[in-house]
Amino acid sequence: MCGIVGYIGESTCGKPLEVCLQGLQRLEYRGYDSAGVALVNNQMTQVAVRKKAGRLSNLIDDIQRESLPEAIGAIGHTRWATNGAPSDVNAHPHTSSDGQIAIIHNGIIENANTLKIALQSEGYVFSSGTDTEVAAKLLGKIAQLVIEETGKPDLFEALRRMARMLTGAFTILAVDVRQPNIVVGARHDSPLVVGLGQGENFLGSDVAAFVAYTKEAMELGQDEAVCIDAHNVTVTDFYGNEVHDSHRFIIDWDATAAEKGGWDSFMNKEIHEDPAAVRETLLGRFNTKGDIVLDEVHIDEEDFRSIDKIIVVACGTASYAGLVAKYAIEHWVRIPVEIELAHEFRYRDPILTSRTLVVAISQSGETMDTLMALRHAREQGSKVLAICNTQGSTIPRESDAVLYTHAGPEIAVASTKAFVAQITATYLIGLYLAQVKGTMFRDEIHQIIEQLNAMPDKIQHVLDTQSEVVLEAAKAMKDAHSFLFLGRHVGYPVALEGALKLKEIAYTFTEGFAAGELKHGPIALVDAGEPVVIIVPSARGRNTLHNKVISAIEEVKARGAYTIVIAEENDPDVNKYADVIFWRPSCPTLLSPLVDVVPLQLFAMDIATLKGFDIDKPRNLAKSVTVE
Ligand code: G6P
Repeated sequence: MCGIVGYIGESTCGKPLEVCLQGLQRLEYRGYDSAGVALVNNQMTQVAVRKKAGRLSNLIDDIQRESLPEAIGAIGHTRWATNGAPSDVNAHPHTSSDGQIAIIHNGIIENANTLKIALQSEGYVFSSGTDTEVAAKLLGKIAQLVIEETGKPDLFEALRRMARMLTGAFTILAVDVRQPNIVVGARHDSPLVVGLGQGENFLGSDVAAFVAYTKEAMELGQDEAVCIDAHNVTVTDFYGNEVHDSHRFIIDWDATAAEKGGWDSFMNKEIHEDPAAVRETLLGRFNTKGDIVLDEVHIDEEDFRSIDKIIVVACGTASYAGLVAKYAIEHWVRIPVEIELAHEFRYRDPILTSRTLVVAISQSGETMDTLMALRHAREQGSKVLAICNTQGSTIPRESDAVLYTHAGPEIAVASTKAFVAQITATYLIGLYLAQVKGTMFRDEIHQIIEQLNAMPDKIQHVLDTQSEVVLEAAKAMKDAHSFLFLGRHVGYPVALEGALKLKEIAYTFTEGFAAGELKHGPIALVDAGEPVVIIVPSARGRNTLHNKVISAIEEVKARGAYTIVIAEENDPDVNKYADVIFWRPSCPTLLSPLVDVVPLQLFAMDIATLKGFDIDKPRNLAKSVTVE
């Protein structure tokens, strides 16, 4: 969804604009329909606003053509359109009628129409189709009322009063030329974090907005408002009561981690970080005896022991990581694991008890559907454990406990390294539960941990040996109109994820199926030349499963399919039916998704590259979906 950045500092050099544009560059993955900035200084009578439809580069070019005035405070916005088409006029910031206030907004204001009608009846005129402009006009009106009441401008108070009137989801930042030395913000169901600098302070949708300038950050809670000047940060609730317990943290990655570093795309870089994402997620999670320690998780061992059911809630890629977890955790812990798309979960009256552990998986920690699902679970008395990749985000803050994946910042919209890190985290939870519940022998658990620790090298091996074959397959299939992906057991979620990657970035009709389902319908789609991607489980210990998938390949091959097969090195059964083979090094079946997804990530990226699409910023998508 939209990306937001705010800055205030001591000096009037070009820094406010620089911070905003740099921040927006790092936040562009959140939305790229339009971008804009608003600047304030002591001399202005109206806020200086510049905004442009399209990518951030359009705005930067425009500012280079015609420069903006020096400023002390600034706000910037990159938009993913929800309300009003992407255009110059609908781009943020929006201003009050007198032009003295500018605001930016992330979310959807649900009562905007009612507010707009009331304002129109008072003579207010609107130029855009956005809910944000309604808030801008309303804030202008309230700010004026505050001046009339108190004799001086108080933007912070005006924003709080407005926040109390809005329904829906919002993070709003505002600046006012009458108080150019502050930037104020308010949040309800949308993200906002504070960056703490020396003689300067920052606001951002996430820490990427300001990590190049400071590593010190502070979380804001639900329904809190913030006022920053160069030296102070004041946090209150929407009624003006000061909040003193805001959680501070140090950002654990460097600005360079969110840069391409020589790669042609973030996605390419991030796929090549798959091994590190798994390795880092495993790091520090074992004691000297080799047992799993999840001290950071802050759920009592006794509570863990009493868990009799797990429900994973997540969306998109994260939900497929949850589906992998089902196979592993049910096998290791012998308790039922359900996986449910977060947006379906709370509308079907799920059965939740205090012994149900709800695991919310989210890379961004901001997916609104997942957030709503976890709130529902907690209201019903279940404990929620978040698996999340983003510090300071809402989902971990609202959960009972969090297990962070340490994949590092993921910028490309299509998730890759976060997926393997999420799977790794679910393995850790499963093995930990097996350890505390005693459902497996210690040495069995240790053996799996050893195998898990070997997985980063195996992923690296796939990257080193399979990239060329994948590229050749992509060249052969780049013009295909549709693809089928088939997998069984843990290969099934991998098939779903492989299919999703192609949809997301190559805009190809693609479906993933459980291979056993083929004969119940999807086989009707197979025609001469139809590309079918099949994930074949290892024959070792899974012979029946292996043979059934081989039969599925035979069946589609007999109908003329072009078969792309992922199989274990030295599997003699695939050669005669496969047009292309991506080889996986031998590994336990339950851990195989970590390697099997890698060639599929590369495949989608290669096809999209060959088609000339923007790999990192696919059309219509946003990385962090903060509306329901
Ligand atoms: C969006 C993204 C997907 C992502 C999903 C869940 O739909 O486009 O790539 O998998 O959200 O995101 P999360 O941040 O919760 O993992």
